[in-house]
Amino acid sequence: MNTITKKISTDENRNNEIFKKACDILKSGGLVAFPTETVYGLGADALNPGACKKIYEAKGRPSDNPLIVHASSAEAAQKVAVFDERAMILAERFWPGPLTLVLKKHPCVTGGNKCGCENGDSAVSTGAVFCIPDEVTGGLDTVAVRVPGHPTVRRLLEYCDMFIAAPSANLSGRPSPTRASHVLADIEGRIDMIIEDDSVNVGLESTIIDMTTDTPVILRPGAVTREQAEEVLGEFVEFAKEDADEGVPKAPGMKYRHYAPKAEMCVVCGDSERVVCKINEMAQEAVSENKKTIILAGNKTEGKYSCGEVISLGENAVAASALLFEALRRCDDEGADLVLAEGYDEKGIGRAIMNRLIKAAGHNIIEV
Ligand code: TXA
Ligand code: MG
Repeated sequence: MNTITKKISTDENRNNEIFKKACDILKSGGLVAFPTETVYGLGADALNPGACKKIYEAKGRPSDNPLIVHASSAEAAQKVAVFDERAMILAERFWPGPLTLVLKKHPCVTGGNKCGCENGDSAVSTGAVFCIPDEVTGGLDTVAVRVPGHPTVRRLLEYCDMFIAAPSANLSGRPSPTRASHVLADIEGRIDMIIEDDSVNVGLESTIIDMTTDTPVILRPGAVTREQAEEVLGEFVEFAKEDADEGVPKAPGMKYRHYAPKAEMCVVCGDSERVVCKINEMAQEAVSENKKTIILAGNKTEGKYSCGEVISLGENAVAASALLFEALRRCDDEGADLVLAEGYDEKGIGRAIMNRLIKAAGHNIIEV
């Protein structure tokens, strides 16, 4: 298949043509990748089971790993999921934005024409209630919904008047794409279209909060932090016990190998000076064994490394979130044998960065 790439510009007539083309493709069951404020997503009509199946094929994604449904507004989201008062508080405070809520799926009202997945009518503005098909939710009775904040995906949702199911637009297991070029590198030829607009700003996938339990549970940390969620809810929010040996992880996607570069990777945590010292020691040893060594470091310490190649993750945790996935891709592109990353303080967005770094390193962490 030929993948069309179209770039958003200041020419509004051309932009309109791009959105029209994308909607035509989505409505006829095709796949379109687009930027969101977190990472690029790979979208299909959320009410079309056949179209959603194609997402799994294009990504090589296990079919028990459900997709996030993107809606144009909280009002639209309420047509596919059941919101209680607490969910509404989060929606009002953080949407549009990098937050996904796991809620009970709208029960399918059979008999009448209300169940979108039965009558195939995907127009959000009709006022109907829609049942998200099992192909999207992995057969769960819950659904993950998000109202994204990036102007391009917002416009796409409004223009199409649809719900769009969209995972990150990477091949399964690779870092999520923060540029159209990453999407092309992974899945060109497997999807119909990419809308390019290189202003992804968060760089890590959305925070996922499960609101179906008594205590809200963060299934995946992101730019909306636990501290922020607790503040608006006025109650305790917990982190999912990830990687517990027993039991099924609550966000099925979290159990899969993720982000890992081909190289061996290690995250070094602790006092900054000791971290630099340890990484220098490890890098020297690796370089002496002719291993291509890449160090992921913040601005304050990047000048302190004496051997190996340094990729800068910028001046603070916010900058690092935006740069991390691209840096991990570069490690592969440059054929690294060893990647050494500085750890981050697990406060605020630092928690999300550490979550991705630890996964990428396959839990290879050193405390100094
Ligand atoms: O920022 C984002 O969330 C991006 C952009 C494109 O919106 N999307 C994204 O999707 O990261 P994906 O598919 O890469 O990650 C979705 C995660 C997976 O770990 C999946 O298991 C979990 O959400 N998930 C989806 N539906 C769920 C549900 N009903 N219950 C629990 N976890 C769910
Ligand atoms: Mg993903």
